[in-house]
Amino acid sequence: MCGIVGYVGNIASVNASGTGPHQALDVLMEGLRRLEYRGYDSAGVAVVAADGIAMRKKSGKLANLTAELAAHPLPEAMTGIGHTRWATHGGPTDKNAHPHVVDGGRLAVIHNGIIENYAPLKAELLAKGHRFISDTDTEVAAALLGEIYRSLPGDGGVEAGGSADGARLSEAMQLAAQRLEGAFTLLAAHAEHPGTVVAARRNSPLVVGLGDGENFLGSDVSGFIDYTRRAVELGQDQVVTITADTVTITDFYGAPAEGREYLVDWDAAAAEKGGYPSFMEKEIHDQPEAVAQTLLGRSDVDGRLTLDEMRIDADVLKTINKIIVLACGTSAYAGQVAKYAIEHWCRIPTEVELSHEFRYRDPIVDDKTLIVSLSQSGETMDTLMAVRYAREQGATTVAICNTNGSTIPRESDAVLYTHAGPEIAVASTKAFLAQITAAYLLGLYLAQLRGNLFQGQIKDILADLAKVPAKIAKVLANEQQVKDLARSMSETRSVLFLGRHVGFPVAMEGALKLKELAYIHAEGFAAGELKHGPIALIEEGQPVIVVVPSPRGRDSLHAKVVSNIQEVRARGAKTIVIAEEGDESVAEHAEHVFYIPETTPLLAPLLTTVPLQIFACELATAKGYDVDQPRNLAKSVTVE
Ligand code: F6R
Repeated sequence: MCGIVGYVGNIASVNASGTGPHQALDVLMEGLRRLEYRGYDSAGVAVVAADGIAMRKKSGKLANLTAELAAHPLPEAMTGIGHTRWATHGGPTDKNAHPHVVDGGRLAVIHNGIIENYAPLKAELLAKGHRFISDTDTEVAAALLGEIYRSLPGDGGVEAGGSADGARLSEAMQLAAQRLEGAFTLLAAHAEHPGTVVAARRNSPLVVGLGDGENFLGSDVSGFIDYTRRAVELGQDQVVTITADTVTITDFYGAPAEGREYLVDWDAAAAEKGGYPSFMEKEIHDQPEAVAQTLLGRSDVDGRLTLDEMRIDADVLKTINKIIVLACGTSAYAGQVAKYAIEHWCRIPTEVELSHEFRYRDPIVDDKTLIVSLSQSGETMDTLMAVRYAREQGATTVAICNTNGSTIPRESDAVLYTHAGPEIAVASTKAFLAQITAAYLLGLYLAQLRGNLFQGQIKDILADLAKVPAKIAKVLANEQQVKDLARSMSETRSVLFLGRHVGFPVAMEGALKLKELAYIHAEGFAAGELKHGPIALIEEGQPVIVVVPSPRGRDSLHAKVVSNIQEVRARGAKTIVIAEEGDESVAEHAEHVFYIPETTPLLAPLLTTVPLQIFACELATAKGYDVDQPRNLAKSVTVE
């Protein structure tokens, strides 16, 4: 939530492609363009120019800020901060947009997160005579920072012949951060320190980008990926001060601290639409590659899992007697799919819990519990807090994550990265399939370690998994059929989704995609639950999309789901079916059938999900909605 970018360059700075020096505004706007998926209620920038801070901000999407800048250009500057907002405190208006400029226009501050103790701080500052313009907690933090800055003996900045490295601003930020409660990334630029940006972070994302004669800050690496792939991961409760040539990290008390430098394994081109009309369509089409990359290098020729990242003692993993998967939204549905496979392969009881419910119900967790968190962003606050809670109870934690340098992996005992590449569309698609793939690898690894499956069985499953990318490509090759149906249904007001076994979470994911993208009522049910209530919803013409299990699956589930289709159809439903190639028996009960290639039943979600994604994306497009930035949503949910 909220995209943040900071930049300091100097007149000699050049980027990897030899261009530069950069104007701060160009860097900030490019960064905000890439970070807009984190929030798009309003946007703003502030630069430290020769005669002080200059700022522009505007409610609405980034395009509004661009127009404002064209009408009222900013002066040249080499230092600046930029923000794209997802509103928490105060509506999405011009005055609530960031930056907030205080201290007689000398200090500009942007913020991501929620300052929980903003009310007493505001009262304290009001009593001292501060006047607030906005309804935000950010302005309170800014005023506090300004107050502390002024109280420090300080050097008065370069104009007064003082230090250019912003030591006084850094110290003020440390002291302010000590007083703030909640989650925050704060960035500040001050007129007295034209070559410095200072930031503090607690429970909220911030990454440093290392350039050549220029340095960057971003909520994530896409904020500066056009300029550098060298990044530094920061720790919890740290203050970082960047100048064009230095990066200084301390804790909130000024003690020196370190960050972990790493190289981002994708480039700016990977974060472009690549010829597709939307990031969502591109990412749906990235899925064969996302699954292939997630499988790559994780098993040897004999079919043995080689998860080098799983740096957890094998003896610990052998004594695990319970797995709890923690995740939210789409990631939680990936967890629900994985539960079926993990329990089947490893015979370890596996629960899937929404992260935000977990720690509030006194869960039973101990040193024999393995926590598997699933998070595309690695920053979801609910999941981070749940993982922390589980660690405190002695659990072992593994993160399945798509974002290198993010907080959840850093705070877990081990991480299994999904290699889906950057996911820019707010609603998740390729990360979902990559998460299922990685969770399956983890399940197979545990089964191998604990001897639950014979090596030959693992090898066979891996061989089937290896065929999945080509099968996804085959589903994608038939997308027009799904698109045509979606377009013909653009006036639909409600769609129900049914599935069973691994098809049940797929049905819920299909419904979530439709809600998020097309803003129409959609619900996913376990097909067996139908008779226990939801069938009352069926009336003439109600569309019902059914994920049909393979006829080769267990326990005659196929026949039961076909009966369910007949039951809803008999009551007037319009039935649309996703079925396995060769399953002719469903055709007579459905208005439309989309066939997916044959695969092992447990792997079917990697294929059946794809038509549902295309359906939601196309229906939303037909309604004229922005599928990349659905209303009210933000990509990385960094507040509880
Ligand atoms: C839905 C969607 C969200 C996320 C959820 C968790 O399309 O994208 O439901 O799955 O907010 O996010 P991560 O995986 O980043 O923890």
